[in-house]
Amino acid sequence: MDQQTITHVQSTWKSVEAIAPQAAELFYDNLFVADPSLKDLFKGDMTAQGKKLMQMIGAAAGKLNGLDTLVPILQSLGVRHASYGVKEPHYGTVGSALLKT
Ligand code: HEM
Repeated sequence: MDQQTITHVQSTWKSVEAIAPQAAELFYDNLFVADPSLKDLFKGDMTAQGKKLMQMIGAAAGKLNGLDTLVPILQSLGVRHASYGVKEPHYGTVGSALLKT
């Protein structure tokens, strides 16, 4: 990712962060419309889940200039997701729902 793209991601993420609870709710609405079967993977409170998601994306966006720190964080996030029953094709569905949101 070049510096211009990193700056663009970081500045536009600020706009999402300003409405994080609404964005998270809209994201999960979009996700479950795209694939209702994904609801079964989520066991906890969705407001708390949305907060964790927004914090993690914010942390990742903030660390785009520090991949040595970011990559291990995302690798362990990926390992945890495997244990939640998340499969590789789900990332495409989540990516589309995020972009739609
Ligand atoms: C942009 C990529 C993603 C990010 C940043 C992300 C972020 C998170 C975070 C921060 C958590 C809290 C628990 C933890 O830290 O381990 C979590 C839990 C979870 N995520 Fe993700 N996630 C992503 C992709 C996905 C995908 C593709 C799925 C598939 C549907 C998914 C489903 C889940 C589930 C099922 C949980 C556990 C919920 C529970 O405890 O009931 N995530 N995610």
